[in-house]
Amino acid sequence: MSLFTSSKAETISTAKRLEGAIQLPGDKSISHRYAMLGAIAEGTTEIHFFSSSADCASTLNCLKGLGVRIERQGDVVTVEGGGMDGLKPPARALDAGNSGSTMRMLAGILGGQRFRSTLTGDASLSRRPMQRVIEPLSRMGARIASKDGGLPPLEIQGGPLRPIRYEMPVPSAQVKSAVLLAGLFAEGTTEVVEPAATRDHTELALEQMGAEIGRHDRTIAVGGRAKLRGKKLYVPGDISSAAFFIAAALAVENADLVLRNVGLNPTRLALFDLLVPMGGRIKVMHVDSLNGELLGDLHVESSRLRGGEIPVASIPGLIDELPVLAVLGTQTELGILFHGASELRVKESDRIAAVAENLRRMGAEVEEFPDGLRVPGRQKLHGAEIDPHADHRIAMAFAVAGLLAEGSTVIHDSPCVEISYPDFFKVLSSITR
Ligand code: S3P
Repeated sequence: MSLFTSSKAETISTAKRLEGAIQLPGDKSISHRYAMLGAIAEGTTEIHFFSSSADCASTLNCLKGLGVRIERQGDVVTVEGGGMDGLKPPARALDAGNSGSTMRMLAGILGGQRFRSTLTGDASLSRRPMQRVIEPLSRMGARIASKDGGLPPLEIQGGPLRPIRYEMPVPSAQVKSAVLLAGLFAEGTTEVVEPAATRDHTELALEQMGAEIGRHDRTIAVGGRAKLRGKKLYVPGDISSAAFFIAAALAVENADLVLRNVGLNPTRLALFDLLVPMGGRIKVMHVDSLNGELLGDLHVESSRLRGGEIPVASIPGLIDELPVLAVLGTQTELGILFHGASELRVKESDRIAAVAENLRRMGAEVEEFPDGLRVPGRQKLHGAEIDPHADHRIAMAFAVAGLLAEGSTVIHDSPCVEISYPDFFKVLSSITR
């Protein structure tokens, strides 16, 4: 069944070379957080290199719906924060579009407001599980109604919140962030215990803006009724978008690629920990730090990759990169095998099924498990018609597959990449020969 939402398509040809230097858009995860925190901080927050993604535009629109004054000039976004009590009751439902991060993290902030609000989303977001934020936020005192036991729309009646200690059953940076953001509005200290470390951009941004944050092992504590201060912030390049170019440069035969100012937050580097020991020639240069986040340039060259099994413990840190790693698996000696990734089934699409389906369309052998995939190595791909299931990361992963395939590959519904990276195809064609 085809799920194309647009009649536009991109055709990808076999790449003989890949070379050049590129700058990624600002990190999507970090941009969401800076905008949300800017909205409840006191004073102006000026965000440079704000993500060009449609998802982050959804966050800005929701914040505008809450009465926040926001201006955008190119990649500079200025948020006029009204402090912890500055948000206004929205006149209509807040539309999070395709963005799970917007809905889940904003639910944390809305849980602490004295008014009622509704969060809606597109068809894909309306199928994604929200019970994981409803449960802890309800324990804190928010009243949240949902559809069919935890699906959007969410109707949130906020109010005075009590602090909790929350042991997360599933590692999720979005859930952790929702509880920490709600904790800002509670009286006392809220604690979140992670089963495995997930991206810590919320913690770093909270520290930067003056919240009281404590961290010990897998426990993160935030002080309630904090006062956040607006400030000038810089967003590093998006490493999850960089992953597609890194995979392409490793697998295309004559590749020499530089990626500038890529975010190098240690909680996002599982990709390097996996690929470098497998033989990936990835060098990190010019490391710097900006408002608590590390960034640097990457130099990536064609490599012979061994492949192998991805340890389950690495899965949370690689969750957005698994589709392109599965594609890359076809070019390795041993292939790629992973388990423990059932979360992939509830992302923007069922990414396990979408990867398996499209790899088969390209003539590859692949085995699907409830929580993972096995992709044998040394496989030849052939050009095919790709159905990304309206999922940006599937479209980009299979554009990379197209570079490695014999013949042309058509990525249907190609504008779906706008969710995270509107210029993806333009940049890809600028470095491909
Ligand atoms: C994100 C966390 C991850 C990731 C998503 C962005 C974030 O989701 O897949 O693309 O910004 O916190 P989960 O928290 O559901 O694992």
